Amino acid sequence: MKTRIETYKGKDMPAQIYKRISKIWQKEFTDEEPLEAKNRKRFADDIFFIVLDSNNRILSTGRLIPINIEFLGKEYKIMGIGDIAAVKKRKGHGKILMTAIHKYLERTKQTGIGFCSPKNAPFYIKCNFKIAKTFVKRFYKRKSNGKIQKSKWQGAYTIYLDGKNNLMKKILSHPRTRIYTSRLHW
Ligand SMILES: CC(C)(COP(=O)(O)OP(=O)(O)OC[C@H]1O[C@@H](n2cnc3c(N)ncnc32)[C@H](O)[C@@H]1OP(=O)(O)O)[C@@H](O)C(=O)NCCC(=O)NCCS
Repeated sequence: MKTRIETYKGKDMPAQIYKRISKIWQKEFTDEEPLEAKNRKRFADDIFFIVLDSNNRILSTGRLIPINIEFLGKEYKIMGIGDIAAVKKRKGHGKILMTAIHKYLERTKQTGIGFCSPKNAPFYIKCNFKIAKTFVKRFYKRKSNGKIQKSKWQGAYTIYLDGKNNLMKKILSHPRTRIYTSRLHW
């Protein structure tokens, strides 16, 4: 089957496309906020990847979300890998999507980081991403009131691809240091 990939920045994405993506995500992820005109601001800078067939049906979709991370007193920018979903499973559509995301991260030399349940880790390994098992236990959100919140998803694995800033290499070589972000999971 012939497939093609479309990418959009959230702020330029036609409404008819984000409505279709939103429907897929609502079905897969229970606590997913719908993509709507009224909250476009929140996804305006995200980069959406969509795999379509020759009849324009969406086969798989996911996004990269700009995230700031603070580690050892320094700020780093990464792309959060999120909402990876294939409409029909085990047909190779998830891999086409992740290969496009992998290529994009390599081309732009950015570090990509995401979270997955352990059962999905083999899929990401097959798509050439790396896995860190305990990273999430060191991951904290700095709330606007100054309080610190740990991740509620302590069993998650981390998938990643290091870019120019080599952030994950640094994180993994300091196994006791906390990692702070303004957003816990994306
Ligand atoms: C995870 C998900 C995106 C994988 O997409 P998919 O289209 O089913 O996967 P693919 O068919 O492209 O699989 C690519 C390879 O990974 C393997 N694979 C896929 N899921 C796997 C799993 N759970 N365990 C082991 N291997 C897996 C496939 O066998 C295939 O191997 P091959 O290249 O040797 O043939 C899909 O299962 C999904 O949408 N799940 C629900 C949403 C979700 O949990 N998303 C992840 C959020 S972290």
